[in-house]
Amino acid sequence: MILEFRKLSKKDVYQFSKWGRHEDPRFYQYNFPFDTKSEFDDWYSMKQKWVLRKVYGLFLENYPVAFITLKNINWFKKRAELGIGVDPNHLGKGLGTTALNEYLEYVFNKFPIETMFLRVAVFNERARRSYEKVGFREVERRVEVFEEQGYKDLILQDYQDQFQLIQGELCTMFIIMSIQKKDFLKANK
Ligand SMILES: CC(C)(COP(=O)(O)OP(=O)(O)OC[C@H]1O[C@@H](n2cnc3c(N)ncnc32)[C@H](O)[C@@H]1OP(=O)(O)O)[C@@H](O)C(=O)NCCC(=O)NCCS
Repeated sequence: MILEFRKLSKKDVYQFSKWGRHEDPRFYQYNFPFDTKSEFDDWYSMKQKWVLRKVYGLFLENYPVAFITLKNINWFKKRAELGIGVDPNHLGKGLGTTALNEYLEYVFNKFPIETMFLRVAVFNERARRSYEKVGFREVERRVEVFEEQGYKDLILQDYQDQFQLIQGELCTMFIIMSIQKKDFLKANK
């Protein structure tokens, strides 16, 4: 099994059409909503627009099983936010954790970023566990608007204990997590 971590190229992106689909409505937002080549082209172009917003992939035998990006980079405060997705056909096999470790090592060594943040929903226990494994720690919790507003009824019906409607918007409790460069590099010497 050959695992490789590298920058995502344009031709890699078309392989996302082979990714599985999340059946749980709380994760519909992570399903690629594209079918055609031009839709994937647009997605790739959009990802590249931000200066130095690098998109990396973890490849299993040359197939992208995960992608990972930086967003909301603040060079002045030396912080950035991380976003990750794993092929739904390959969840829970350690691939997300591997991609996170590779990416943090790359970013902390290459860019003047001292703190990496992320935001994860409390209900997303698999993601939380993966983030904790690479060293992210909880900073704060706050109720915020959920990214996906398209399936309110479906989500509320099945997960009313995890969501609430505030002024008509579906909201849930999020955890802000962070990791310091010095702590990550020390733990991974
Ligand atoms: C979050 C994500 C990137 C993690 O990658 P992954 O490859 O699935 O995760 P890993 O296998 O590396 O680690 C998952 C850990 O959670 C555990 N886990 C899996 N399902 C779980 C569940 N339902 N509840 C609690 N823990 C769970 C696993 O056992 C593993 O921990 P362990 O190694 O101690 O046993 C991936 O699941 C994903 O893309 N999910 C959908 C999109 C998403 O949630 N993105 C993040 C948004 S903040």
